Amino acid sequence: MKRNRIFVTRRIPEPGLERLKEHLETEVSLLDRNLTRDEILRMTAGYQGMVSMPTDSIDRDCLDGLSGIQIIANYAVGFNNIDIDYAREKGIVVTNTPGVLTEATADIAIALILCVARRIVEGDRLVRRGDFEGFYPTFFLGAELENKVLGIYGLGRIGKAVARKAVCFGLRIIYHDVEPLEQESLDFPAEYVSFNELLGKSDFLSIHALLSEETHHRFTRKEFKKMKDSAFLINAARGPLVKEEDFVHALENRLIAGAGLDVYEFEPKVHPGLIALENVVLLPHLGSATIEVREKMSLMVADNIIAFFQGKTPPNRVN
Ligand code: DGY
Repeated sequence: MKRNRIFVTRRIPEPGLERLKEHLETEVSLLDRNLTRDEILRMTAGYQGMVSMPTDSIDRDCLDGLSGIQIIANYAVGFNNIDIDYAREKGIVVTNTPGVLTEATADIAIALILCVARRIVEGDRLVRRGDFEGFYPTFFLGAELENKVLGIYGLGRIGKAVARKAVCFGLRIIYHDVEPLEQESLDFPAEYVSFNELLGKSDFLSIHALLSEETHHRFTRKEFKKMKDSAFLINAARGPLVKEEDFVHALENRLIAGAGLDVYEFEPKVHPGLIALENVVLLPHLGSATIEVREKMSLMVADNIIAFFQGKTPPNRVN
């Protein structure tokens, strides 16, 4: 197995690198920045496996250009950056890192809900500007969470973790997914609703669906018009689920009250309209960004690759 060579497109935490190096010849990109397609193709030549980042666009053209890569271990639970069907056609195995980042990502969604409801980041800016003049009864009022409705779009692992945590803040949970889940399988109270009801009833609408052809631009001007003008949209899933141009229009025209975002349609670019708005909290894709989670993710990509080259099915194969 020593002969197989692995290329890691960007530095990952040491535990995973050490594990990879114990079993396989492993090189990490020395550039330590996002690679272009040409760089990916050039730098992976002569390697049999690669660890990719969610920022590496491994589309048809890229897959056609890869020579000799048999497995791509994506350092993310999401794998919308890879054309997994075409990879399968080409006999390339793709894996991801599910499970370990569920709670951390749910924490970020909850943090965004609290930030937008209680105007936390806006308040921090106000204090730093020197504009805090002391308490008064009508100063800087936000929205209460208790008894408000949290709508969850996509009740998968992360959606469920958000719901579980949100219940502790007194939020009532409604959700929409491709189909209702058995209530007995849920350890929190939740009501299944149609997509239109989700839009119309949510005080906070948190997106936790996978990005796919079906969910791309699931939230456009039409959907924002159906939401309450007091509602907040939270997105810690993937940017392109929301049509950003329409989103900015909805926020500017107060079709909705505000938003908490960890992801963007054209990441890392952020729409200037979002940056200009006070009622929007913007995070730099921090969902899984804890030391513990990122180390576990590094071990998972290593285990997937090692299993593959040992002739086993990688534990987190997605295609
Ligand atoms: C994931 O794992 O999909 C995250 O978005 C990357 O942090």
